[in-house]
Amino acid sequence: MQRVYNFSAGPSMLPLAVLEKAAAELVCYGESGMSVMEMSHRSPEYDAIIKDAEAKIRTLMQIPDNYKVLFLQGGASTQFAAVPLNLIRRTGKADYIVSGQFSGKAFKEAQKLGYDVKCVATTKDDNFDHVPVVTRDMFRPDAAYVHICFNNTIYGTKYPYIPDTGDIPLVADMSSCIISEPVDVSKFGVIYAGAQKNMAPAGMTLVIVREDLLDYAEEKMPTMLEWKTMAENGSMYNTPPCYAIYMAKLVYEWILGLGGLEVMQAMNRKKADLLYGYLDSQDYYIAPVKKESRSMMNVTFVTGDPELDKKFASEAGKVGLKSLKGHRSVGGMRASIYNAMPYEGVEALVAFMKKFAAENPKA
Ligand SMILES: Cc1ncc(COP(=O)(O)O)c(C=O)c1O
Repeated sequence: MQRVYNFSAGPSMLPLAVLEKAAAELVCYGESGMSVMEMSHRSPEYDAIIKDAEAKIRTLMQIPDNYKVLFLQGGASTQFAAVPLNLIRRTGKADYIVSGQFSGKAFKEAQKLGYDVKCVATTKDDNFDHVPVVTRDMFRPDAAYVHICFNNTIYGTKYPYIPDTGDIPLVADMSSCIISEPVDVSKFGVIYAGAQKNMAPAGMTLVIVREDLLDYAEEKMPTMLEWKTMAENGSMYNTPPCYAIYMAKLVYEWILGLGGLEVMQAMNRKKADLLYGYLDSQDYYIAPVKKESRSMMNVTFVTGDPELDKKFASEAGKVGLKSLKGHRSVGGMRASIYNAMPYEGVEALVAFMKKFAAENPKA
C-alpha cells in the first residue's frame, strides 16, 4: 500500500528515511542480535543510544552546557504538574499566559495543586486567534516563572517573539514546534515537549532545564516528576521510553543530515508559505488566525459552512490526504505540516483545496 500524506496534529508523520532506517534495524540492532525494543536500558548498546540522542539534540538546538536534557515519560501533560512542583518553591507564585487549550490546562493544573498562580494575559475572548502581546511589567516581579505555550496546536498560532520576562525564568511548552526552527535556548529557563509531533512516536517527553532551576522541587513530590532526580540519573531513574528515545535519535540524525535547524526552518517556511499564500489569494476558505500569529506547523482554515467542512475532510481522506479535520473543540480544518511532511504533500493539499472549492460552490 502507498503511504498517504498524513496531516494529523499528533501522533503525526515521521520522516520516511527514519522509518526505513528503523525498519532495517528493527529485528537486530547493530551487532546486538536483538531489537532496541528488547534491549536492557542498562546495556552498553542502549547507553550509547541514549547518550547519542542527547549529544545530537544538544548539537541540533545548540543547547548551552548549563542546561540538562531529560528524556521523560508521561507526555507534555505530565509537565503541566511537574513545572510548578519543580519550580514554584523558588518564590511561591507563578504567572501564566493562556493562549489556547494547552496553556489553559497547564494553568488549571497549577491551580488544582493549590498554588498562587495568575493568568496575566489571555486571548480567550478572541477565540485564541492570536497570541497575547506581553511586556515585562505585566509579570509579578516575584513570580517563580512565567509559563507559555509557544505554538498552539489546536488554534494554529505561534509566538512571533520570545516574551521578555527579565530575570524571571520563562517556561515554554514547545510540543508542536520543537526542532522546527532554531530557537535561542538561553532565553528560556525550561523547554518541554511531547515527542509525538516532530520528534518520535508518542511516549517520550523532552525536558530541557537550566541547572540552577533544579534546586526548588517540593520536598513531598512524586520522585518520577522530580527533574533533579532524573538529571542525576541520566533520565534512567527507572526504565525510560527506550524505543521512542531511539527513534528521536534517528530523527535528530535526519535533521542534522539535512543541514540542521536553519535548513529545516527554510523547508518549513516554504511549505507554510505555499499554504498561507493560497489561503490569502482566494475567498472560499477563511484562515481565522491573525497573520502575525500564524503557526508554521498547524494551519487552520474553515469554509464557513460546517457541512462543507465535514465533506472536505472526508473527501480529502479518500484521495490520501488524511486527518485534516480540525480539533474537536473548534471544528473546521487543520493541516499539521510538521518537519516530516514533504513539500509535495502541501502541493497536493492546495491542489485538492482548489478542486474542492470549484466543485462545491457555497449556497
Ligand atoms: C502544545 C501542546 N501541549 C501539550 C499537549 C499534550 O501533550 P501530551 O498528549 O503529550 O500530554 C499537546 C498535545 O497535542 C500539545 O499540542
